[in-house]
Amino acid sequence: MEASQSFEYRDKHFGDTEGIVVATSENVFVPTSTTTLLLAAVRKSVNPNWTSALDLGCGSGVVAVVLKKLILPDAAVSASDISEEAVALTRQNAGRHGLAIECRAGSLFEPWSGRRFDVIVDDVAGMSEPVARLSRWYPPQIRSDAGESGTRWIVPILEQAPRHLTIGGEIFFPVLTLSHEAEILRAAESSFARVELITEQWYPLGGELLNHWAVVEDLMARGMVTLQKRGSRWLWATKIYRATNPA
Ligand SMILES: C[S@@+](CC[C@H](N)C(=O)[O-])C[C@H]1O[C@@H](n2cnc3c(N)ncnc32)[C@H](O)[C@@H]1O
Repeated sequence: MEASQSFEYRDKHFGDTEGIVVATSENVFVPTSTTTLLLAAVRKSVNPNWTSALDLGCGSGVVAVVLKKLILPDAAVSASDISEEAVALTRQNAGRHGLAIECRAGSLFEPWSGRRFDVIVDDVAGMSEPVARLSRWYPPQIRSDAGESGTRWIVPILEQAPRHLTIGGEIFFPVLTLSHEAEILRAAESSFARVELITEQWYPLGGELLNHWAVVEDLMARGMVTLQKRGSRWLWATKIYRATNPA
């Protein structure tokens, strides 16, 4: 597999002067602002007692690499993705940084049967499928299959996560308003007593989606996605939530 480009992680809010560079590939999801927002939420909430971490839906492995290199250098960090190419790229990126990261391929928690982690950082595809396919983020070769509501993967993840978290362990997950947010929060609240919104970021809808407004409008009418109109612009958001396993 050819690593075609690279992505540099750097967060000025934490005073990062140097970036962490990972290779990307055309066959693997390229990190976005959601990656940076998710990592910022984890950094803000970091617990020095965390000794194990899982990057679920690792893509290029950027989250696992930043966790091991910057946020939790003493923790055991693991990563998995349904895409074999993503897992291979994660291994390659870990190797480039000289990091020991345990990498496995498989859907959701399948590779981690019987394993528990202090922190899980989930970023498995969770965007309404018709929107994902029209967007620039999911070219045809990138796995999504999250369904019209975008909830196909995140709901079982939230149901199964308590069995993969230690006591008091935490899962961080993004919820895009380009998915059925209410259904995801219902699933989170039925599995976890404590679910908190850590941060959110709003963005104008891109031209590639505005050009297919009828598709977006139909999904919106059926509650599959939620957009806000501000002035002449339609906005969508990424929200980062944290759910905590009872102690
Ligand atoms: C939004 S990307 C996140 C990648 C990476 N965390 C980042 O920030 O760039 C979603 C990832 O979920 C993976 N994925 C899709 N369905 C999956 C499933 N059922 N189980 C595990 N991973 C899946 C995709 O292959 C993709 O790499």
